Amino acid sequence: MYLIITSSPNTDGLTAACGRAALRGIEQAGKTGEIFDLCANKIQACLVCGNGWGSCLDEHRCVIEDGFTALQTRLKDIEGLVLITPVYWGQQSERLKYFCDRLRRCEARKGDESILAGKKVNLVAAAGGTGNGTVSCLTDMELWCRHMRAVPFERIGVTKYTREAMLAVIERASNALITAS
Ligand SMILES: Cc1cc2nc3c(=O)[nH]c(=O)nc-3n(C[C@H](O)[C@H](O)[C@H](O)COP(=O)(O)O)c2cc1C
Repeated sequence: MYLIITSSPNTDGLTAACGRAALRGIEQAGKTGEIFDLCANKIQACLVCGNGWGSCLDEHRCVIEDGFTALQTRLKDIEGLVLITPVYWGQQSERLKYFCDRLRRCEARKGDESILAGKKVNLVAAAGGTGNGTVSCLTDMELWCRHMRAVPFERIGVTKYTREAMLAVIERASNALITAS
């Protein structure tokens, strides 16, 4: 199963369209895909417990009782991941940052035992404004993959100027997550 994580409050915007394109590509390759919307699930921000570390350090779990732990557990079984964010201030949306921050705290110190170790991840930054900040957003997401021991596969910036062409690219790249050797 391939998971597609989206992170825009706009359920019919550019990010959502990117999510549907990724799902098409995965299904065309004969695999199951599922879209998980971090905004609908209201994933919260890290509390920065203790002196900087909480139960994330040794127990690899977060104390906040929202959908995070269930999602963390689901990542064990996925074959690959697509992360899709709107570009806000040249970065990921706050919801995606919340999720990535908390997962990194719980998993990155496991090294090669990280829940995403060795798994391919497609990174998509959807910039609906000027397009400025698309590259910095993708750079940040790629760094996160490295901390997680995941394998960044494609880095795709989408702007309103070439929306349809880039949706086709997302579809192909999601298919290639499965079919490319
Ligand atoms: C707080 C905020 C910051 C934004 N910053 C940028 C930006 O740095 N660059 C850009 O091209 N668009 C920026 N935008 C526009 C979003 O990328 C655009 O609305 C995008 O399409 C959002 O995706 P959506 O259609 O899924 O909502 C920003 C939007 C918001 C709400």
